[in-house]
Amino acid sequence: MNAALVADALAGLTAPRKTLPCKWLYDATGTRLFEEITTLPEYYPTRTERGIFDRHGADIAARIGPRARVVEFGPGDGVKAVQVLGHLRSPAAYVPVDIAADWLKDAAGRVARAFPALEVIPVVADFTQGFDLPLAPPLLGFFPGSTIGNFRREDAASFLARLRAALGEGARLLIGADLVKDPAVLVAAYDDAAGVTAAFNLNLLVRLNREGGADFDLGGFRHQAVWNAEAERIEIHLVSLRDQGVAFGGRRIAFAAGETIHTEDSHKYRPDGFRALAAEAGWREEALWTDEAGLFSVWLLGT
Ligand code: TRP
Repeated sequence: MNAALVADALAGLTAPRKTLPCKWLYDATGTRLFEEITTLPEYYPTRTERGIFDRHGADIAARIGPRARVVEFGPGDGVKAVQVLGHLRSPAAYVPVDIAADWLKDAAGRVARAFPALEVIPVVADFTQGFDLPLAPPLLGFFPGSTIGNFRREDAASFLARLRAALGEGARLLIGADLVKDPAVLVAAYDDAAGVTAAFNLNLLVRLNREGGADFDLGGFRHQAVWNAEAERIEIHLVSLRDQGVAFGGRRIAFAAGETIHTEDSHKYRPDGFRALAAEAGWREEALWTDEAGLFSVWLLGT
């Protein structure tokens, strides 16, 4: 039994509008499925961001300057770090920060192999909470993948302010933010034809059964991605296909047909809106790069 998962899930499933915290999406299976999502034809963010880094690599490197000390929040497999560090001029250090020690090892190992002269210092910490960095400023934060969009707007602002404080004097931040666009393109990116995103979302129920002793009928729920035009975000839900009860944590959780469990949000920004968000958190724009179709944005922010 995973007591923390059970406690979180019970709180979410007994609320008037049911939710499950998205951090539980990323177990070994979820991480593998997410990596698969990033290669899907419908999921444009990863390859568009990569294209921006490659197309503007020289400009990005010129602005960042030599001997950068790069701190990445949630490095995943380290592939993006290898790509971006490869553009920079003799980067001096790489500090991946993640709560999961085993992925950190993966990312740190991949980067260290690619850049033998680079100082690589992994930090095990929950970067959404407080943490200390092992290097003195000035530091360059790196937060790609539009993960900032998975925070509610007000949380995104306070998180960006905290990053600025943690990075210290002279901080800069290279950050990716997905842009508002045709809702059909957005919905497809979060509800792909091959069903990988659906499997990623439904894996939460698999985990609750296996690690939390629940008896969810996996055939009784389906994945749903909807565009919330007012909040300018994609919302990910699990929809109950019928009236049903699920035994969990010594209770019976009732679901009406069509009732949903809200599992994740992915906020999309307009350039002006992101600039304002950054400014609220004490950051100013040094540079903005986008792809030709205007799908995705990469920002260099300074203090
Ligand atoms: N940061 C990613 C995004 O918002 C995370 C993500 C991609 C995601 N696909 C998902 C989260 C599907 C939940 C469900 O684009």
